[in-house]
Amino acid sequence: MKKIIVHSPGTVANLVCGFDILGLALEEPYDIMELALLDKPKVIIHNRDAFGLPTEAEKNVAGVVLLSVMEKLQDRIGFELTIEKHIKPGSGIGSSAASAAGAAVAANHLLNNIFTTEEVVQFAMNGEKLASGVKHADNIAPCILGGVSLIRSIHPLDIISIPSPDLYVTVVHPQIEVRTADARQILRQQVLLKDAIKQWGNIAGLVAGFMKNDHDLIGRSLEDVIIEPIRSILIPGFDEIKKNCKEAGALGGGISGSGPSVFMLSKDKQTALAVETVMKEVYEKTGISYHTYVTTINKRGVEVV
Ligand code: HSE
Repeated sequence: MKKIIVHSPGTVANLVCGFDILGLALEEPYDIMELALLDKPKVIIHNRDAFGLPTEAEKNVAGVVLLSVMEKLQDRIGFELTIEKHIKPGSGIGSSAASAAGAAVAANHLLNNIFTTEEVVQFAMNGEKLASGVKHADNIAPCILGGVSLIRSIHPLDIISIPSPDLYVTVVHPQIEVRTADARQILRQQVLLKDAIKQWGNIAGLVAGFMKNDHDLIGRSLEDVIIEPIRSILIPGFDEIKKNCKEAGALGGGISGSGPSVFMLSKDKQTALAVETVMKEVYEKTGISYHTYVTTINKRGVEVV
């Protein structure tokens, strides 16, 4: 039985101003997935963690991805998958994308990479659709490709890898669950032109900042006038965290994906650790349990180990 193990990283989607179009991959945390090829058209799923995710393929994010691969190959094969998740579902650091992208990359690898990267992203987006009701690639693309991704368009798929500076990422994950579907539901469907102008200025500024390795420009551009004012209400201590982290030297940051995690970018490890201390101080006061990560940008994406 042909079998492989992949590591599938967490991701920060949106990068504050780029709702649904920007994302980056994290060195930590990552899920560990073991996939084997079967000669029968079925998907068997085992969980090696305590999250209790469904093992029926149709209800499992990785399962629907594998089913879509099987359908493409006219059900000539099947898969047996063991998932050891380290990225908590509903955390805002791309838990569903890690499952979906990990399954898609692992399946393609077992099939001698017959599919293009674009096709692998398409397979993985089926998992995001199950998790959040919408096909978005701002977690999937950086998870698969590593680094920073710009999703210029979904239909047709147009993904651009942005060269990223060696920044540190500090993440605090308050142990409350915000479902992406709910966090999308509360958003307004219309935006004011003056807000749109600010937002696209920031998106362009952030991309230019990454490409020029201009830390000040990155910091100035990490501003969101459309989504954050609404979603931040769901995250206890959000305003205080943001203010205090910037005072501690962070370039900037905001809600990671649809939350509740909050991320901050820093130019060196010392600052990233000071930012972690600030995040801890805020959450100690709220009494909400939390988990923090101090990590870097993962430039490899899902990898076969
Ligand atoms: N762009 C998506 C959202 C990411 O913000 O809803 C979800 O992780």
